[in-house]
Amino acid sequence: MVNNLNIINVNQKIVIIANWKCNPSTEREAENLLREIKKGIKKIRNTEVIIVPPFVYLPVVRDKILLKSKEGIWKVGAQNCFWENSGAFTGEISPLMLKELGVEYVILGHSERRIYFGETDEVIAKKLKVILENKLSPILCIGETKEGREEKKIEKVLKRQLKEILSPISRFSLPTSDLVIAYEPIWAIGTGDFCSPDEAKKALLFIKKELIEILPRYLSQNIRIIYGGSVDSENAKNYINIGFKGLLIGGASLIPQEFIKIVNSCNLQ
Ligand code: 13P
Repeated sequence: MVNNLNIINVNQKIVIIANWKCNPSTEREAENLLREIKKGIKKIRNTEVIIVPPFVYLPVVRDKILLKSKEGIWKVGAQNCFWENSGAFTGEISPLMLKELGVEYVILGHSERRIYFGETDEVIAKKLKVILENKLSPILCIGETKEGREEKKIEKVLKRQLKEILSPISRFSLPTSDLVIAYEPIWAIGTGDFCSPDEAKKALLFIKKELIEILPRYLSQNIRIIYGGSVDSENAKNYINIGFKGLLIGGASLIPQEFIKIVNSCNLQ
């Protein structure tokens, strides 16, 4: 029997993820944005920076910018993928295609996918399966709505999401790629109303406890749990200080000076 302890890719570096969402509007702007960001980020030690552009900019991000990087700290991610590798599924992009493009990480279950495109935990679990089969690394987003902000409800939502999405994976194959879980309270996304470090820490500890129950211990301990939701250069390092292993950043990742400050402040922790 294969010893999973030997094949899991343990990665405990701080990870800062730039989720550009549906921005910018042109390839030239995308190139300029990344060039500006790269100029300001030097001498990174224990930090990885994952750029997650819209699908159409993946080749340019990979070819023109990331492959020229000597540091090895830069990675490319995708914002979504389909649950099959190929077939008659008009408009979809498969994990196999992403892998071929040099993508290493895939955001999964983002609240904007759940809200605007009706993605359920069941759909997300199907996508997780095929992402892991392709040895890509998922960045699984979980978090409660504004209505669910009360502590007991937060735990109920997180428990349900983790269980329904992660439990099936032990039934087919355990991951050998990196696993990242992003705690993104929905009310904090794009609102400026970030989650206080005290509240975020409660969620972090709860997620850790749940992971131990759902997954084999060696696996649960190696999952990086990160925070997302109105992160900026003022509040970023607070989340790293309380034990999050990274940040998932939307708006601030489109402002080079702001994103550079975030990465540099976390790198100094
Ligand atoms: P903001 O950083 O704009 O709040 O977005 C967070 C997010 O959704 C990252 O995936």
